[in-house]
Amino acid sequence: MEYKMIAPEHSEQVMEHLRRNFFADEPLNKAAGLCQNGSSCPALEAHCAEAIQHRMSVMAVDAKEKDTLKIVGVVLNGILKPGDTAKALSKLDCNDDADFRKIFDLLHRHNLKHNLFEHFDVDCMFDVRILSVDSCYRGQGIANELVKRSVAVAKKNGFRLLKADATGIFSQKIFRSHGFEVFSEQPYSKYTDENGKVILPVEAPHIKLQQLYKAICADDQDE
Ligand code: ACO
Repeated sequence: MEYKMIAPEHSEQVMEHLRRNFFADEPLNKAAGLCQNGSSCPALEAHCAEAIQHRMSVMAVDAKEKDTLKIVGVVLNGILKPGDTAKALSKLDCNDDADFRKIFDLLHRHNLKHNLFEHFDVDCMFDVRILSVDSCYRGQGIANELVKRSVAVAKKNGFRLLKADATGIFSQKIFRSHGFEVFSEQPYSKYTDENGKVILPVEAPHIKLQQLYKAICADDQDE
């Protein structure tokens, strides 16, 4: 396996990987019925494309496939600044994809309520946004390696704080094994509408959203 930085020119191949492996499979997308496996989701693709522009994302490529760039895993990382989440939440009202709105309303409101910027007194964060591995390549440590490399990219670029919204128990375990700690949690059973109906019926074993963080002290930055 080879690990490479994702450049904007890889965007279409990254989207193709995500359409086949992330858009339908990620626990919240699945609960919302966001899209079918292989189909496109313009709202989520715009979110992913924005992260790629920050040039801090990493892909796993099957080195055995010599003639094509066979992307088998990606981690999309972005820079988050104070005010970005409130802006994204206000823009959500204009989004015509109701399923996308359900997911990002939960994520944005949770992040605004549990404010890492204020708690850690930072003015930017390294935001691990999307972690995805090809279903045929799972269980081989690829996600672990992508998170490890993301931490290295964050350190190299001088970030003091990393953050991830992990939506399932496996991604939560992966982040914790790389030194991330839980800052806040939201049980899916308590994300309900005005009639008490659960908005995102997420399948077991995934029961809650975890907002995780990893603080990097100055001494760690040269590692
Ligand atoms: N069942 C049991 N354990 C699992 C599973 C599973 N289905 N998936 C991962 N794990 C455990 C592994 O045992 C391993 O533990 P270890 O380090 O103690 O050995 C650890 O998680 C890491 O395993 P990897 O092989 O590195 O994970 P993998 O490459 O299979 O990718 C991922 C895991 C990214 C969750 C993959 O299943 C996937 O793409 N799922 C769909 C998309 C998704 O849910 N992404 C995360 C959403 S949160 C976010 O994007 C920020």
